[in-house]
Amino acid sequence: MKASAPGKVILFGEHAVVYGHPALAIPVTQVHVDVEVLDSSRRGIWIHAPGINLDAELNSLPDGHPVGSVILNFFQRQGIPVPALDIAIESTIPVAAGLGSGAAVSVALVRALALHTANPLSDEQVNEFAYEIEKLHHGTPSGIDNTVITYAKPVYFVKDMPAITFKAGKPFTIVIGDTGIPAPTKESVGSVRRLRMHDQCAVENIFNEIEQITLIGRRSIESGKPELLGELMDQNHEFLQALTVSSPELDNLVKTARKAGALGAKLSGGGRGGNMIALVEQPKAQAVAGALISAGAKHTIITEVS
Ligand code: PMV
Repeated sequence: MKASAPGKVILFGEHAVVYGHPALAIPVTQVHVDVEVLDSSRRGIWIHAPGINLDAELNSLPDGHPVGSVILNFFQRQGIPVPALDIAIESTIPVAAGLGSGAAVSVALVRALALHTANPLSDEQVNEFAYEIEKLHHGTPSGIDNTVITYAKPVYFVKDMPAITFKAGKPFTIVIGDTGIPAPTKESVGSVRRLRMHDQCAVENIFNEIEQITLIGRRSIESGKPELLGELMDQNHEFLQALTVSSPELDNLVKTARKAGALGAKLSGGGRGGNMIALVEQPKAQAVAGALISAGAKHTIITEVS
């Protein structure tokens, strides 16, 4: 049985979302994780994931291994004996780049296991399962990654609330630029936590400003005025800089995108490295992507939100 899950980017509200403020995220279908589960003629569960240099039997994986924990948790929760399986995992989502690679592996893997063992799971169950796995590996995740990836639709997300998916009133185009610098989300989230402990009032003020941007962003998207998102992205980027989660490389790509004709740009996700996003008019997408590569981006993705 096969299952897939897309990548994602956060449009507005990262970091603030960890503290109960809303955020907007979209799936990125140009990158994905594909999982195939087959019965095995050997004993045990064999995992083949060439992208992360993994070709091993489940029991030989270290405790807490992200892939191992998804499989073990699945069989434990379903209360079924562990069968003999061959599991192939392929991913085109860069790791630790803010594109949700970990959550996409969890979602695709649990869906493929559920299908293979004829234990169907609803989207809500898949989402809840993937969130538990995110918590094992990321400390205090808001849950936005697993949610947008499970539903594979734009989401308006508030921590611990049911996910709200929404539609764009008019399609718009986003260029994603990867700094190529791996940046664990846990670290930038930890920095923001320390900053907040030091000056809670200032940081909450920034979160409130980001919340306003997110709310206006959602309204602009739903009412078919996506061109308004450019300026909102620029403002959100400034607040993320104030939270200390940007970096010279991200700032450089953000500036480059604007110079090349983007309507606005910001870092996306945990920050410090990983990806930035830019809002572009569709005909300018290639030019902006080219300018990002010339300025040092390792990859670009052009994605349409419709
Ligand atoms: O996984 P990333 O790097 O896209 O970041 C997730 C967004 C944060 O708000 C920084 C963390 C979280 O758990 O929501």
